[in-house]
Formats: sequence, C-alpha cells, structure tokens
Amino acid sequence: MGTYVITGGASGIGLAIAEQLTSEGHHCLSVDIQQADIVADLSSPEGRTDAIAAIKDKTGEKLAGLVTSAGVGSHVGNNALITEVNYFGTVDLVAGLHDTLAANKAAVLLVSSNSAPMPTNPDFITALLDSERERACELAAGMEGHPVYSGTKQAVTRWMRRHTAAYAAEGIRVNAIGPGYTRTPLSLAVEDDPKLGDSIKQFIASIPVGRPGLPQDMADAASFLLGERASFICGAMLYVDGGHDAMMRPDAL
Ligand code: NAI
Repeated sequence: MGTYVITGGASGIGLAIAEQLTSEGHHCLSVDIQQADIVADLSSPEGRTDAIAAIKDKTGEKLAGLVTSAGVGSHVGNNALITEVNYFGTVDLVAGLHDTLAANKAAVLLVSSNSAPMPTNPDFITALLDSERERACELAAGMEGHPVYSGTKQAVTRWMRRHTAAYAAEGIRVNAIGPGYTRTPLSLAVEDDPKLGDSIKQFIASIPVGRPGLPQDMADAASFLLGERASFICGAMLYVDGGHDAMMRPDAL
C-alpha cells in the first residue's frame, strides 16, 4: 500500500480514481484548483512549481504513483488555458517529480483521451513536444477549441511514448488511458452547450457498447494499470471508450 497523487482529484475521473485506490487501502493526495489536499493552479508555471514542491513535501519517500487527470474541456473558450492545463499541467508535473518517482520506482498514469489521434495542427504538436509554451499558446489562439483539446491529448500521449524507455530504465512505469465520452461535470457542460449539445448527443448514441462511460470505468482501468498485475505494461495507451476508437479508426493500431 502506498501514497498516490492524483491531479484533478476533486472531480469526475480523478475523484473516481482516488476513491477506487482508497478503497484498495492506498493513501491518496489530490492536487486540484479546488477542494483538494494540495490546492494548486496547474495552468501556470508558478502553480506547477508550487504543486511539485508541495507534493514532494507531503509524500517524502512514499510516492507509489502519480495520476494526471486535471484538465479542461474544449468548450472553455480559452485555448491557452486548454494548452497550459492539459499539456503542461501534465508533462511538467511528471518531469518535475521525476527524481521522486524514480526513487520510489513509482507508476504513472496519464489521463489522455480517445480524441488524441484526431487530426490537428502538426505545428501545434511540435511546439508542445519541444516545450515551446508561448509558441504553442500563440498557435492555439488561431485554432478551434476541439483540435486544441485533442492536440494536447495527442502530445501528452506522444510525450509518454518518447519517455517510456528512459523512465522504465529507472523503474518508472508510465501508461495512459484514453477515455471516450464519460459522464462527468466536464462532459456534461459540453453536452449542455447550446452549440455543441446536439452533436454530442448523437456522438453518445453511436458508442458501440450502447452507453456512455462512467468515471468508475476509468477508475477500474487505472487501478489495473497502476498495480502489480500490469508490471509488464509500459508505454501503453489503453482506450477505455466502449469501442469508439475501433469504430472510428478500424485499420489503425
Ligand atoms: P472534471 O471537470 O470532472 O475534472 C477535472 C478536474 O481538473 C476538476 O477537479 C478541475 O477542478 C481540475 N482542474 C481544472 N483546471 C485546473 C487547474 N488549472 N489546476 C488544477 N486543477 C484543475 O473532468 P473529467 O471529465 O473528470 O476530466 C478528467 C480528465 O479526463 C481530463 O484531463 C479530461 O480531458 C479527460 N477526459 C475526459 C473525458 C470525458 O468525457 N469526461 C473524455 C476524455 C478525456
């Protein structure tokens, strides 16, 4: 049993993962902009630095794992915020905790999205992977919200795959889940959006298994990927989406 840190642990998928791990006897610390053990704004470099310092302070040598679930949706109307929270709020945290993760041979689970493979601006992805924050935010300002959102998720997943081998050599196992549509406060806000609502409802109706995802579906996958039974799974992106990715991209692996 160990201590898990969960960003975005105050709501939705992050909260369900924290509750699942707690029910298994682990200690969980949430990091969130609201109602958290560590209150931090992951949308700024300063907020991320403060979060990393507070996590190190509170977990010491006991960090069993990190889950990055903090994120904002494509509907927020602020593409720089999507870029900062979803991409830099994920990778800066993993990188900033690298030494502690290695010392503990910890597991990392990134909450990506099944939108990650969708077409987006390749220059935006390059700027993200090159850690060019200002350039990425500039490019995002000229894009629609959804390709910014899916682009941040694609870049998070590619960042994971680029770092998988080096991290594994130090004992850190990194994996990602790609949730499909999952009923949480974030997705309900998009479903209720007057402009996006109708197409989202059609999208939900097309999920092959016939229902939307629930936070517990993600928590079950997270529990498995973080645990010993997944000790040979490393650098994987597990779509937890009721078959939507397979339906939309049948010939892609
Ligand atoms: P949610 O809105 O229920 O939870 C997101 C959490 O992130 C909230 O507690 C929020 O306070 C926190 N957060 C937002 N901005 C922050 C900031 N600047 N600093 C610190 N914390 C911040 O949303 P949900 O649905 O649980 O989303 C969790 C993750 O799952 C996100 O990364 C999202 O992109 C991803 N996801 C969600 C899907 C869905 O259908 N709900 C589908 C695919 C991916």
